[in-house]
Amino acid sequence: MWVPRYSDLSQPVYLMIADALEQDIGNGRLAAGDRLPTLKELAESLNVTPGTIGRAYDEAAKRGLVVGEVGRGTFVQQQASVSASSARPGPVPSESDQVDLSIIKPHDAHTADWLRSAINELAESPDLAQVLDYVTEGGHATHKQAGAAWIQRWLPEARWQQVVLTSGAQHGLLVAISSLSKSDDVILCESFCYPGIISLAHSMGRRLRGVAMDEHGLIPEALRAACREHRPALLVCVATHQNPTNSIMPRERREAIAQIAREFDLFIIDDDIYGFLEPAPDYKPLAAYAPERSVYLTSLSKSVLPALRIGYLYAPPQTLSRLSSMVRSSVWMPSPLMAQLASNLINSGKADQLIQVQQNEAAARQQMAREILGQYNIRSQPNSFHIWLELPEPWTSDEFANLARNNGVTVVSGSQFLPERTSATCGVRIALMTPSRQELSFALTKLASLLDSPEPRLFY
Ligand SMILES: Cc1ncc(COP(=O)(O)O)c(C=O)c1O
Repeated sequence: MWVPRYSDLSQPVYLMIADALEQDIGNGRLAAGDRLPTLKELAESLNVTPGTIGRAYDEAAKRGLVVGEVGRGTFVQQQASVSASSARPGPVPSESDQVDLSIIKPHDAHTADWLRSAINELAESPDLAQVLDYVTEGGHATHKQAGAAWIQRWLPEARWQQVVLTSGAQHGLLVAISSLSKSDDVILCESFCYPGIISLAHSMGRRLRGVAMDEHGLIPEALRAACREHRPALLVCVATHQNPTNSIMPRERREAIAQIAREFDLFIIDDDIYGFLEPAPDYKPLAAYAPERSVYLTSLSKSVLPALRIGYLYAPPQTLSRLSSMVRSSVWMPSPLMAQLASNLINSGKADQLIQVQQNEAAARQQMAREILGQYNIRSQPNSFHIWLELPEPWTSDEFANLARNNGVTVVSGSQFLPERTSATCGVRIALMTPSRQELSFALTKLASLLDSPEPRLFY
């Protein structure tokens, strides 16, 4: 088995390992096509965590030295190019042992490099002076126009005059819920629901009620029954890559829900933050089927960068002044500086490139998840950022999530997604995009081995 011989001991361990790989490829100790030890094997032999080895292999892959193949391992590249100096600077690694599969976010597609040049360009551009001051009218027209151009990828008819800028989708939810409902109103949501919606509804004194779902999302007949029973003001719905259950609502169901909303005079908040992940859907966003009573909501957090904090609402004309006024009350205005960066990204076509990168990366990770956890009941979509794992008997969500955490893998227990703490859950959400592919493979394999353990309760 290959083991690294360290040279520069002042560096973080993962860089020492990557450098040793580079040296050994250069001096012929490792040849093209050689299989490297698994993360576990090398971690055990070096007495470090598998995460450290994963970072080392990722660093070596970035240098063009090795390539990972799903299910087979990591191999020395056929044409590994070795530079004169093997010592390179890199980020300081985290010392945490946990592989974090709890946060849904985009894969780090060298976005920092893009951001650096985008910031430099903005610093040199005459646009800079325009985005340093307070803005009235809910943001610059050019920023709304870029928002409309972004939204037109999914709602081709979108007009920029109906776009409201927000500080991310969470803020969009706050603005929409607080403008379109009042204290004590009932809000309907999916029976497993994004926790950001749960906390907002509770903090704003709305009564949240979950509507039954199946593998295609919210069930129209259950929605009709809930409308009869509760006379709700709003439905908040994530129709594409639902968080957490990962369902995609088919077109007929979207139409049926729009129809029920009309019957019961219900307003829809269509949270389409993951819609960009579907390359050629045969449906439109939910809002397209009832545009007169829907707020369409998206942001750049998942497609580009969570730290941009720029989102867009697309809403019917009669709601715009209420929504804009709530933006002013809550944050005065989303940062024009960041809105300019977001606009540049959209207008230059870079956002579309990043979408492609994220779709490809998500597809590779979903394949890995299906290979490793395929014998269990998982809800996966070819391009989604997460999966939903229905646990076999006798697991409960909290038990499994706790055991996984104690074994170095953080997933989110299904109990976090319950709008009403009445029903039990038997699932966990597993987000796939945060760690390196090697770490992900290791973590998913660990989860599979925990699921296989015949007497789960013996672990306590
Ligand atoms: C369904 C859903 N809506 C909204 C958000 C919040 O997004 P943002 O970071 O743009 O505020 C998330 C984040 O995970 C989400 O999953």
